[in-house]
Amino acid sequence: MPDWLFAYGSLIWRPDFAYLERRRAVLADHVRQFWQGSHDHRGTPQAPGRVVTLVGEPGRRCAGMAYRLDPATREAVLDALDHREKNGYERRSVSLIDDSGELIEALVYLAPPGNFAWLGEADLAQLAAQVAASHGPSGANADYLRELVVALERLGADDDAHLIELDRQVQRIVRRRIEAGGT
Ligand code: SIN
Repeated sequence: MPDWLFAYGSLIWRPDFAYLERRRAVLADHVRQFWQGSHDHRGTPQAPGRVVTLVGEPGRRCAGMAYRLDPATREAVLDALDHREKNGYERRSVSLIDDSGELIEALVYLAPPGNFAWLGEADLAQLAAQVAASHGPSGANADYLRELVVALERLGADDDAHLIELDRQVQRIVRRRIEAGGT
């Protein structure tokens, strides 16, 4: 089993686990999409939020962070992550390329189409409305998106126009709500 773990969502900015080393890396032929429902972190069972999963798309690249786990704590880390990512994610093995061109075999938490929390594709306005409206035990769904955008900027991977436009629309909805006296 690989010692590396690939992060493309919240695990980039809030890994919350011990690791020996981390490197920027990309996963080929995949794209990050807000197609997975969040009933436990950024939404509720009654009003799920939306979080990212990986969707296969030939020719696209998903940038993220690869973490090398310590063999001594690896099982405990993965047990904790299985719990954190329990809302429809599965562990899969993938091949990454790091900045120096080295191939890295890694695990990834991926929520496949049709899982119990799958929400699937929606147009940008629908995605923005749902993300702007959703809150869960881990906080506002809008903050998850904002933190993802900031984390990708820090990685030098801020070239996802769809994600940036989604963030812009969500921020606009949130601003209007605050101006109208909401929270
Ligand atoms: C990940 O970050 O790699 C998985 C998706 C998430 O927890 O946001």
